[in-house]
Amino acid sequence: MTPGFPSLDTRAVDAVEEMDRPDADPQRLDRTYAQFWLINAAVSGWRRNYVRYLRPVFAERGGGTLLDIGSGGGDVPRCIARWARRDGFAVEITAIDPDPRAHAFASALPALPGLSFRRAYSSDLVAEGRTYDVVVSNHMLHHLAPAELQALLADSEQLGLKLCLHSDIERSRWAYALFSLGTLPFFPGSFIRVDGLTSIRRSFTAAELAEVTPPGWQGLQQWPWQNLLVFPPRPGADTGENRRVG
Ligand SMILES: C[S@@+](CC[C@H](N)C(=O)[O-])C[C@H]1O[C@@H](n2cnc3c(N)ncnc32)[C@H](O)[C@@H]1O
Repeated sequence: MTPGFPSLDTRAVDAVEEMDRPDADPQRLDRTYAQFWLINAAVSGWRRNYVRYLRPVFAERGGGTLLDIGSGGGDVPRCIARWARRDGFAVEITAIDPDPRAHAFASALPALPGLSFRRAYSSDLVAEGRTYDVVVSNHMLHHLAPAELQALLADSEQLGLKLCLHSDIERSRWAYALFSLGTLPFFPGSFIRVDGLTSIRRSFTAAELAEVTPPGWQGLQQWPWQNLLVFPPRPGADTGENRRVG
């Protein structure tokens, strides 16, 4: 192990993110939700996912419905709502998070047409018999215990009629080193840096994720350090910056 650099050989499944602590400082937590968009814009690749996967689904009928699971501060569904509207699609987006603090933050932001926030688990929506054209999540998988991950993927298969996309960070020394350096002077007063580093330690490698993913899901490794799970598999998706794993 390099001094000052944790071992990334195995997932740090016992490491707890500050934002997940019930007694997390409310101001720091709100600042964290407010700053998620910067991280997502820099590393998450949702514009690429929108163009490559979501836009073709919405184009079939001029719109559709989408569910975002674990929406946090809500910036990813807000971006998708804006992109879809700019493309002329009529979309209805539901963004859920079971954490009351995330729900309160996201629903207090200015409303966007076609976007609503709910405090719920995916299992609540399955129990209500709801379905959506598309189900997505961002940076959520690494928060889950093994049984929760399996339940989330099973729920997604039931909820998503046409497409499910779960995107998460891939654990790597590069990701850790660059995130650590890149965020060093920024994000005072929020959990972005400390939780981002914990997230990378908790995250899956592409091979580990492929091992725990049920049959029928396509695992893609996206440049530079994202894992993307796709259901049902998209023929030809494993090209360019998307490398098929497993
Ligand atoms: C790191 S945040 C990511 C938020 C947002 N998706 C983003 O990319 O900025 C993870 C979120 O997942 C939520 N979460 C944790 N466990 C969950 C579960 N079982 N179902 C749904 N959401 C969950 C947390 O409350 C938290 O808001």
